[in-house]
Formats: sequence, structure tokens, C-alpha cells
Amino acid sequence: MNDQADSLRKLVTAQENGALQQPKLTRIVTVTSGKGGVGKSNFSLNFALMLQRRGQKVLVFDADIGMANIDVLMGFSAPHNLYHLLKREKTIWDIIQHVPSGIDFIAGGSGFRDLVELPQSELDYFGEQIARLSGHYDVILFDTGAGLSKETVKFIAAAQETIVVTTPEPTSITDAYALMKMVRSMHEDVSFKLVVNRASDIREGKQTADKIAMVAKQFLQIEVPLLGTVMDDANVTKAVKKQVPFALAYPTGEAARSIDVIARHFLNEEGNAAPAEVGLKGFINRMLRLKK
Ligand SMILES: Nc1ncnc2c1ncn2[C@@H]1O[C@H](COP(=O)(O)OP(=O)(O)OP(=O)(O)O)[C@@H](O)[C@H]1O
Ligand SMILES: [Mg+2]
Repeated sequence: MNDQADSLRKLVTAQENGALQQPKLTRIVTVTSGKGGVGKSNFSLNFALMLQRRGQKVLVFDADIGMANIDVLMGFSAPHNLYHLLKREKTIWDIIQHVPSGIDFIAGGSGFRDLVELPQSELDYFGEQIARLSGHYDVILFDTGAGLSKETVKFIAAAQETIVVTTPEPTSITDAYALMKMVRSMHEDVSFKLVVNRASDIREGKQTADKIAMVAKQFLQIEVPLLGTVMDDANVTKAVKKQVPFALAYPTGEAARSIDVIARHFLNEEGNAAPAEVGLKGFINRMLRLKK
């Protein structure tokens, strides 16, 4: 390990030790899916808002290299993004947008494409900048693009928790399973939980999750618990058109209420990381290790 990475680890350890006094160990969560368009970005944004409403400090990271998603859903354009950080034109604090609705947000922009190709020194710099967030957030959510780009795999493997979003449609179910299978073939220690989106009722959510859990158990020997179900709700499309998150535009609608239940569930459960590798420190260590 080079000196820079070593001093980075010391910095993170010192910051997390400091943070332990006012316990704030960041949960790092990647939101992904096999099939595209199943509702990852809407889930990530509104989940973040609901967590925030429950007193959590949340940062949403738009890790979709193809398309900016989250900012469009908020009707907001980020002047700086990860690209400016990697080019060392901006610090991590400069690229965090404090959105009026209350969440903090980082746009990936074209920066993500560079992330897997970065030389070690640049990656260490990225890690060092991310490490500065230690103690500031309870949850960092990465909203990824659909399917498995190299970047997405990297975030899944480095994050402490991975939420796989699926709908009840058979194509979405098989793609969710295929994604888990592919990730597990590359990184054996990654675990998943499911969010079933666009269900017509709780029962359909549970049935969808049961199907996935059953094949995952049989063929991958893993448990894939259901984190929760989000109802199919016409308010979501209306909110997308208005460019206002549905949790704000239609807070009493079915989708918003489902997400609030999921937020409550999420806060009551333990993170599912290996104990030695939690928080930002674990995330950064894994990012650095994966690069080698
Ligand atoms: N719970 C829901 N009820 C009704 N419609 C929904 C729901 N969730 C998502 N949608 C619809 O699906 C569309 C796509 O959602 P979203 O952009 O969040 O998907 P995504 O998985 O992030 O897509 P991509 O793979 O392109 O990043 C929304 O614009 C909306 O019309
Ligand atoms: Mg999206």
C-alpha cells in the first residue's frame, strides 16, 4: 500500500474515532436494479427525504453515468459534479448541493466514467475527499444506473448495503436475479435486500420477493430479505412531470406512505456489513482494495 493510501486510512480512522463520541457511523447504501426504469431514482430520492424526515442526515449521490436522474426529478441543475472534484477544481464540499427540499446531493456527471480508470493516486484523492464526510451523514445513498457497468459493480462491492429494486413483472424479476448472480460471481461477500416497486398491493410485493428469495436461496445460497414494497401510484408520474419529489408533492399518497414504512423499517434494522468494515472507513478501504 502506498504512503498516500496509508495516511488516508489514518485520517479516516482518526475521524471515525472522533465521530464515535457522537455516534454517527455512516450507512453506505447502493440502490441498483437489473432492468432499467423500475424506479430506482424515484425510490432513492424519496427514501432519502423520508429518512431525513425521521431525523437522519442523508447524502444522495447520483452514480448513474449515463443520465443525470435525481436532479431532473427535483427540477434542479447542479453547477458542479464529480468531474470537477476528480479534476481537483472543486472540493467535496463545493460539489455537494444543498437542495431546498432538504437533502444534500452530489451529481456524478461525467466523472463516474473516469472512476474505474483512475490511477491509484487519483483514487486515493477521491477516497480522501470522501473521507471528509465522516461524521457528517447518517446515510449515503448511491443511485446507480440499471445493469452492471464496471462502475456500478465497484460501488456495490464497496458499499455496506445493496438494495435491489424490482417490479412484479417477470422480466424485472429475472433481471434482478441475474444481477445478484453476476455480482456474487465477482464478489462473494456482497449481500442484498429487495424493494418491490409498483406493486398493486402488499401481497403482490411479498409474492414477488418470495420468488426472488427462493431462487437466490436455491441457486446462490443467499438470503435476500424484503426491505419493503412501494405501491404503484399515479402520483409518482404526476410528481415526475412536475419535477417535485412525490414525497413532497403527494405526501399522503400511497407511494409516499409506502416509502415512509420502508424508512422506518430501514432505521430499525441493522446494516448488513461485516462488522470490521462498516461506515466510510470500510467503504473507502474496499474502494482502494478493489482498485488493486
Ligand atoms: N411507485 C410507482 N408508481 C407508479 N409509477 C412509478 C413508480 N415508480 C416509478 N414509476 C414510473 O417509472 C418511471 C421511471 O422511474 P425512475 O426514473 O425512478 O426509474 P429508474 O430505475 O431510476 O430508471 P433508470 O434505469 O433509467 O435509471 C417514473 O418516471 C414513473 O413514471
Ligand atoms: Mg435512474
